Amino acid sequence: MSGKFITVEGGEGAGKSTNLALIKTLLEAAGKKVVMSREPGGTPLGETIRGVLLDAKQSRMSSDTELLLMFAARAQHLDEVITPALAAGHYLLCDRFTDATYAYQGGGRGVSMARIAELEQFVQGDLRPDLTVLLDLPVAQGMQRAGERSAPDRFEQEQHEFFEKVRATYLERAKQQPQRYRVINAGLDLKAVQQQIRQQLADYLGAVE
Ligand SMILES: Nc1ncnc2c1ncn2[C@@H]1O[C@H](COP(=O)(O)OP(=O)(O)OP(=O)(O)O)[C@@H](O)[C@H]1O
Ligand SMILES: [Mg+2]
Repeated sequence: MSGKFITVEGGEGAGKSTNLALIKTLLEAAGKKVVMSREPGGTPLGETIRGVLLDAKQSRMSSDTELLLMFAARAQHLDEVITPALAAGHYLLCDRFTDATYAYQGGGRGVSMARIAELEQFVQGDLRPDLTVLLDLPVAQGMQRAGERSAPDRFEQEQHEFFEKVRATYLERAKQQPQRYRVINAGLDLKAVQQQIRQQLADYLGAVE
């Protein structure tokens, strides 16, 4: 008995949190037991690491430190939550995962993609998401949505160019792995976004049934 690992990715304000709830509802309607989580975080220790990663006062954090903290939180998350849930046959639904590390630390910060791949293999072994829903929208539009909320965290303080690289890296990875990625036009109104997600999820569930 083995569950499925579904991740939701996208830039700031793309609608990940909003649409995670819909995906959970759709999976449960299809009879799946769903465990929801998020990265960085997902465990008490991971959430503490998340606090450090997002803290706007940690302005001197090096790219390598950031990368290693991401994977440290992920190692704990896999051990404590993801691996047991999948082994129990559950659907693990996660707000961001390693694709975000490629996009933000690789694309955004310019850390070597090969180095990220090494850490991915070290921390995850052969575990990869079964399905990744990428919410894609123009950077400015996502920033506008995100900006209507709280004070900017350490990532949200980056310049426009950083987020363009994040977006381009996500799209490049989606192109390279079309069997795993479903790209959603997240710039449309919520109803239209959710219609695409319903369609893609029905298609995916039809294929794994
Ligand atoms: N399709 C949409 N059209 C208009 N507004 C939207 C849409 N989807 C989400 N929103 C709104 O945009 C804001 C950001 O959405 P949400 O928090 O789901 O994004 P997120 O991807 O989780 O952001 P973050 O990266 O900061 O966690 C929220 O106020 C949400 O209500
Ligand atoms: Mg969110």
